Amino acid sequence: MKVLVIGSGAREHALCHSLSLDPDVTALHCAPGNAGIAEVAELHQVDALDGAAVSGLAVRLGADLVVVGPEAPLVAGVADAVREAGIPVFGPSKEAARLEGSKAFAKDVMAAAGVPTARSYVCTTPDEVDAALKAFGAPYVVKDDGLAAGKGVVVTDDLEAARAHAAGCLGAPPAPSGQRGSVVVEEYLDGPEVSLFAITDGETVVPLQPAQDFKRALDGDEGPNTGGMGAYSPLPWADPKLVDEVVQTVLQPTVDEMRRRGTPFSGLLYAGLAITSRGVRVIEFNARFGDPETQVVLARLKTPLAGLLTAAATGTLAHLEPVRWSDDAAVTVVVASHNYPGTPRTGDPIAGLDEVAAQDSPHAYVLHAGTRLEGDTVVSAGGRVLSVTATGKDLTEARDRAYRAVSRIRLDGSQHRTDIARKAAEGA
Ligand code: AMP
Ligand code: GLY
Repeated sequence: MKVLVIGSGAREHALCHSLSLDPDVTALHCAPGNAGIAEVAELHQVDALDGAAVSGLAVRLGADLVVVGPEAPLVAGVADAVREAGIPVFGPSKEAARLEGSKAFAKDVMAAAGVPTARSYVCTTPDEVDAALKAFGAPYVVKDDGLAAGKGVVVTDDLEAARAHAAGCLGAPPAPSGQRGSVVVEEYLDGPEVSLFAITDGETVVPLQPAQDFKRALDGDEGPNTGGMGAYSPLPWADPKLVDEVVQTVLQPTVDEMRRRGTPFSGLLYAGLAITSRGVRVIEFNARFGDPETQVVLARLKTPLAGLLTAAATGTLAHLEPVRWSDDAAVTVVVASHNYPGTPRTGDPIAGLDEVAAQDSPHAYVLHAGTRLEGDTVVSAGGRVLSVTATGKDLTEARDRAYRAVSRIRLDGSQHRTDIARKAAEGA
């Protein structure tokens, strides 16, 4: 089968890497892709947010399946355009993608479905924000209602910082149309976080293995929130019943509620969870594979990926054989540009990629995020530049291999966390 992947990050490189290993995939295309994806797929330059352009490309290529990686094209309705062209697509409709596109909408669906989540207020004025902050107390949690690439959330003990972030999200003063943004203020959830992905066709829910990502920029979970600085799977500390519990209390009720509303959700439903002292709570939903968790989850997936995604796209998941997993552990360390998550410096040459391929493969490999080719040289082209991924018999071995590979990479001014999966590997 011919598969077209939309997107250009390390998540899409991980998807393309797995699809390239699937014997059923005879041709692999990606738009727009990056320098690493170019090694396993044919790249095409289209605007990933333009549904007509993407569906036109899929028709031209005779694609049997289109996989939409990032949230922005989903929220823009790209999956709808491909579906209308009669091509199976892995990814929810524009309506269903609101589960990620609007935090207020997600809260509404969770309330209707009885899904446990943080108590919250949706605020549209500074006075409402103040009242909500006062009601919950510190630590304060303030979220931009719309998409913000993982950077729209502020968790802080500083009341003024919470108010300032809310004011920024609301936008002041109101436009002549009277329209202004909204902001979600919610109670603080304690406890470790888990990312659990499920493949769904709108009815059947097939959970993948849980992973944990590291959202803060600096070691010890210090510094600002980012798109994600690393990940690992499995989670040795998690209750083995966690996945079943989340399917029953979160994923299946949400999928059922979306179907009941006439806007079934098919594709990847990502539950960001907090394992609090009072039980599991949803922090957020995403409507697509997480980045960098996908890098570690797919590293452990043994079931061929194209069949799994096609079953979701064609409504046949109920007939699928159980998903098979490797017993290996996987760790991903993100190498980011100078100044990320602020405005990153780009255009710097990246050295050492050949050394990783020669000395660490197949246990460790480099998935590209923000990279492009300048002549024959791979240069940085975004905030998160590389996802260095490794597998091993346990987390200690996987993390040693990942960090050995990271040490071979040379990118001027780059940064990475040194503590990805450390506590989990040490059994702490
Ligand atoms: P989100 O974009 O909603 O996933 O939030 C980004 C990050 O902010 C999460 O991964 C958490 O680390 C943190 N966060 C979000 N909501 C809460 C909450 N209610 N309590 C504590 N931390 C939160
Ligand atoms: N790893 C967080 C995300 O993909 O949203």
